[in-house]
Amino acid sequence: MPEADISKVEKNYYTDQPQKNEAFFLKGCNNYDWGFKNRLGRIFNCESGRTVMLAFDHGYFQGPTTGLERPDITILPLAPYADALMLTRGILRSLIPPSLAKATVLRASGGPSILKELSNEHIAMNMEDAVRVNACAVATQVFVGGENETQSVMNLTNLVDAGNRVGMPVLGVTAVGKDMVRDAKYIRLATRMCAELGAAVVKTYFVPEFETVTAACPVPIVIAGGRKLPELDALKMAYEAIQQGAAGVDMGRNIFQSEAPVAMIKAVRKVVHDNMKPEQAFELFLAHANLKRHKA
Ligand code: R5P
Repeated sequence: MPEADISKVEKNYYTDQPQKNEAFFLKGCNNYDWGFKNRLGRIFNCESGRTVMLAFDHGYFQGPTTGLERPDITILPLAPYADALMLTRGILRSLIPPSLAKATVLRASGGPSILKELSNEHIAMNMEDAVRVNACAVATQVFVGGENETQSVMNLTNLVDAGNRVGMPVLGVTAVGKDMVRDAKYIRLATRMCAELGAAVVKTYFVPEFETVTAACPVPIVIAGGRKLPELDALKMAYEAIQQGAAGVDMGRNIFQSEAPVAMIKAVRKVVHDNMKPEQAFELFLAHANLKRHKA
């Protein structure tokens, strides 16, 4: 029991200062509950409104991808520079120290390996487990136009229903099949579908006319890095995406397959959070990487 309030100091109710009622900083996310917003607020930096998410969930269908043969050796040194880690619960529990205070986005879908039809995914994780490991979001792919389009859409909507019950945001990932045209028209369709179906954040690929993609999507978009590019090109892509309305990157290979991954993630951070021009960020990359310019 607290003791009785017998202070002689006059109480101050600050009656001249109305209580603030600020909108949540992420677009389209103002009407969620406290826990839901708190999770998003751990993924996205509330100052810049953006995130550098480090994606290394590739093993869930690709096995030990180049650069991810030993995530304990290649990924853990990068973790301090990421705002959030996108990974599987298997790698989380086996290799990530619980003391690492980073937001996590858990891959929640799975099924086929690279040997089979990739769109034949199902939800492969119970929401209770995401809560148990204190995840900040869960992710599933939507294969718009793919062989199992409807199944993947139902994966998303089922995950959103389960997430809404416990305050867990869902990251909808637009998976683009090998034979699909990766252009603004397709990406607008796929990202908007993810948002309409309840994804709180959407991950997609950068394409020309990206500002129309971000404009047509009512929730934040983060871009995947895609296949490994020369570092300057990857920084230019991140810069263009941010300038055209992306709320960050969810980048994997262009960071962990870089010749100097720590230098690369530091450079990406500058582009994402500080609007640094890609050429300047590349100079930083070279300085931190101690590489010769022609090698990058
Ligand atoms: C792909 O299936 C994985 O979910 C990755 O998270 C995603 O592709 C982003 O990684 P990257 O930047 O290597 O494309």
